[in-house]
Amino acid sequence: MYTRKVKLYSGFERFWHWTQALLIIFLALSGFEVHGVYTLFGYEKAVIWHDYAAWAFLVLIVFAIFWHITTGAWRQYIPTTRFIKAQLDYYLFGIFRNVPHPTRKTTLSKLNPLQRLTYFGLKVLVIPVQVISGFLYLYYHQAEQAGLHFSSLSGIALWHTFGAFLLVAFLFFHIYLATTGTPWTSNIKAMITGWEDVELSMDEVKEEAYPNVVKASEMGYYFLDRDGYIRDVNAAWLRIYGYTSAGEVVGRHSSITRNPEDAPLLKDMLDQVLAGEKIESRIVERVGKDGQQGKHLLTAHPVYISGEIAGMAGFIVDVKNKKEPV
Ligand code: HEM
Repeated sequence: MYTRKVKLYSGFERFWHWTQALLIIFLALSGFEVHGVYTLFGYEKAVIWHDYAAWAFLVLIVFAIFWHITTGAWRQYIPTTRFIKAQLDYYLFGIFRNVPHPTRKTTLSKLNPLQRLTYFGLKVLVIPVQVISGFLYLYYHQAEQAGLHFSSLSGIALWHTFGAFLLVAFLFFHIYLATTGTPWTSNIKAMITGWEDVELSMDEVKEEAYPNVVKASEMGYYFLDRDGYIRDVNAAWLRIYGYTSAGEVVGRHSSITRNPEDAPLLKDMLDQVLAGEKIESRIVERVGKDGQQGKHLLTAHPVYISGEIAGMAGFIVDVKNKKEPV
């Protein structure tokens, strides 16, 4: 598996994520104490701290909404049905058989379809229900006195408790899924540092590997434009020709690499390749830096750019001290 480090989460996103996580955990802990499930902070303190944390949560939500709108990041959460079956299949079966992830994370699309749907539901349903019912709970009497009539306080409390159960269920599920990366800490580390090793597709691997192979190859590589000017050569080409830097030859005409009497041969070859032909192997005599002579085997093929032949490229291997091929 090949990976690349990708910046997935901005500073704000990470701050928002962890502050929200702490606040929700704290609100759940203090809330369920108020509900009478256990004694942790003491009932009175639990009530007061739940109120403080609720206000902090509201401030955070306002900042997060502002951030999502101004950065366009809200688009991340638009639900999509594409790949949703594949993602469900993965979580229900594939994950236990080490099958690769059906979707890949990118900076622009970090959330898989199931996450999108879950977070969307959380943001437009559960959290608003929780916040609205919470503030109605908090200001129920003031609202009544101001003449606003809602359903009974116990109705509001029921909604609030129901939302709290959903949030706690989400929390457990979320923590489980957060540990299903490889290694299990990878997703959590990404949310702390902002960076994640994202898997590369084979096409991306090739895209990165090919140029490096050409650069580091022991075979000389050259690229001539349609007029026969040298546009690119690699280090092995320079070595074979005795040059020290690409700047000495790139931009010059390829006729400098041949004896004057061989120049027409080179021209013929270029014409042939520009007409779409390929030359599989040919032994040629070269003229290197300072007139040094040698022989090499070359290949030549047309280079297509946007569907048009833009030049000729190929590889060369020195045959100076080797037997002539049969
Ligand atoms: C802005 C958000 C919130 C507000 C304004 C809020 C407000 C309140 C209020 C006023 C109460 C009644 C107790 C009291 O007087 O303090 C309460 C109870 C409770 N809260 Fe929240 N809360 C919020 C978020 C949350 C969250 C995120 C959770 C859980 C994840 C939660 C869980 C609970 C629970 C379980 C109770 C007890 C309900 C009952 O037994 O009636 N609250 N909340």
